[in-house]
This record gives sequence, structure tokens and C-alpha cells, in this order.
Amino acid sequence: MLRAPTTRRRWFRTLAAAGMPALPAAPAVAQAGAARVRIRLSHVVARQTPKGLTLERFRENVQQASGGRIQVVIAPDSRLYGDTDEVQALRLGAVDMLAPSLSKFGAMGFPEFELFDLPFLFETREQVHRITQGEVGQALLAGLSHQELVGLGYLDNGFKHMSANRALLAPENFAGLRMRVQSSRVIAQQMRALGARPVVLAFGETRRALALGVVDGTENPVSNFWTQRMHEAQIDLSLTAHAWLGYAVVAHQRFWDHLAADDRRLVRQALGEALAWGNTIAQRENDGALAALRASGATRTHVLSEAQRQRLREAMQPVYAGLAQPTARWLDRVRSTLG
Ligand code: LMR
Repeated sequence: MLRAPTTRRRWFRTLAAAGMPALPAAPAVAQAGAARVRIRLSHVVARQTPKGLTLERFRENVQQASGGRIQVVIAPDSRLYGDTDEVQALRLGAVDMLAPSLSKFGAMGFPEFELFDLPFLFETREQVHRITQGEVGQALLAGLSHQELVGLGYLDNGFKHMSANRALLAPENFAGLRMRVQSSRVIAQQMRALGARPVVLAFGETRRALALGVVDGTENPVSNFWTQRMHEAQIDLSLTAHAWLGYAVVAHQRFWDHLAADDRRLVRQALGEALAWGNTIAQRENDGALAALRASGATRTHVLSEAQRQRLREAMQPVYAGLAQPTARWLDRVRSTLG
């Protein structure tokens, strides 16, 4: 249930609690005649992640390009809204922009986005970019307008790996495990195909659920695994790189239409630069998290052989048989683009 629509005070309290810089002092004189604008943005990850860093760069870009007239206020790490209420907050106008995982768009009514969850569909970041930066990706974003959402662009995180308190190197290792997943039918099917039981939980609840034994394991890129301190509750991280995690930045149509045309251009430009930058640092952030995890000695990391990855790929193939129609149709377009 959405918390009561937030007041400005709650945004400021949240920012202070998140150690975020107080809102920059508004310029003594805003640009002549131009109205001051505040853009409220919420997300669910830690700041030292591809998404956290990119959205802070977006904020700086907007601040600089507008001379401080437009201010982006960020509530990070599920401090204000999390998986269960951020979309409702956007629709109610309690927040202006979000950057949800592509896996979460199915639950919003856009099952076609779950194609990004398909196991072993993408083998490289470049293949993902041929979709997200090309005609298929732009067409997917355009479809968000059916629910008054404005799709503003894509951001990388990276390939997901599997964690539990056992090595997950072969399908039989997953038997009976309760695995936390995002709200995606494709990911749920993936876990069932492995003999595990998918449990949908909010990202912000995942570490606690692992620590309490509510779930046995999960999947995520290392940057999320490390920054959410999942290594304190998981003994084994198996580097399966079995599927992709990325994001789409969205605004509500009502908020977007309310912006002056020049401000929409300024926001698009600021975001475009930040996303391009974010896509160049995402791999570095994941590599850094893996190095820090290994140095901590807290969790064993397991590199899989190609033969082991192939066995997982084969075990997950049934996911492709049961796709929702929209996902299947878009998958054909993705496959013809990838060649
Ligand atoms: C998850 O819920 O596992 C991810 O979507 C979190 C994120 O946004 O990276």
C-alpha cells in the first residue's frame, strides 16, 4: 500500500537520512522569466551502483544546464518508495521519475519487456546495446505511452549471477531452493525450470530475507549483491552470467507535459549524457564489486566452465516455450536484429 503521498518535508528528511547533499541553494535570480522546477526521482539501489551513480550524474547535469533553476531530488535505496509502491507513487504524482529494472515492467502491464530476462538470450553487453540503442528498444519505450508513461532511455547494470549457501554449478544444485526473484514471469519460469521455487520479494527486503532464511538464494549482478551486503548472508556466489539486468528511465506523462518544451529538451539531453556515461561505467562497477567481494573473503565465488554454463542453458530452455504472446512477438524482432 502506498505510503501517504509524501510532503516536501518527507523528501528532505529522506535525503538527509540518505546522507544526500541538501538541495543546492536556488540561484539568487533564476533565469529571467523561467519557472523553477523540482524533479523528484526515487530508486531502490545503493548509491555506489551503476544506477545510483548515473542518476546522480543526471542530477548534476540538470543542475548545471539550468543554472540551478531545475533541481533533481533523489531518494535512493528504497528509502522513500520500493518495489511495492514506486510505480503507484509515480502514477499518483508523488514522484516524477523512476528507473525500474526492465524485469519489473511485466507486472506494470508490459510483458514484452520480460524478453530482457530471457536466460542466455544475450551473451555480451554489445548485443544488449544493439537492442536498447536500436529500433527495437525505442519501439518498446514508445509502447509505454499506453499507460501514460514516457520512456526516456535505457541504462545497463550487467549480467546476473546466482547466490545461495551452496555452489550452483549444475541444474541439480538448484533442487528445492527458494530463490528470491523480481516480479517477472520469465524469471519465475527460469527458476522453476531449474527445480527451484521462485519467491517474489522487494529488492529492499532481499538481504533481510536471505539473512532470516525466508529465501535460500537469489540472482543479481555483483554490484547489487555487494552494495546490499548480501555477502553477509550468502556463502556462495556462482558466476553464471545467465541473464541480463538493465533499466529504463520513465516519467509520468502528466509531469512530462507540464514541463516547458525547452525544459523537456534540457532534461532529455542531461539524461542522455548521463545514461551514455552510465553505460561506460557499469562494467567497471560490477568488476569493482567482484574484486571487493573476493578481497573480503566473505563469500566463495565460483567460475563456471563453458560446459557447466551450457548445461544450465539447456535446463532453462523450457522458459522459451511458455512465453506470453507479446514477449514471443518481440523476441522474434530481437532475434532478427541480433542475427
Ligand atoms: C532487483 O530487484 O533485483 C533489481 O531490480 C534491483 C535494481 O533495481 O537493480
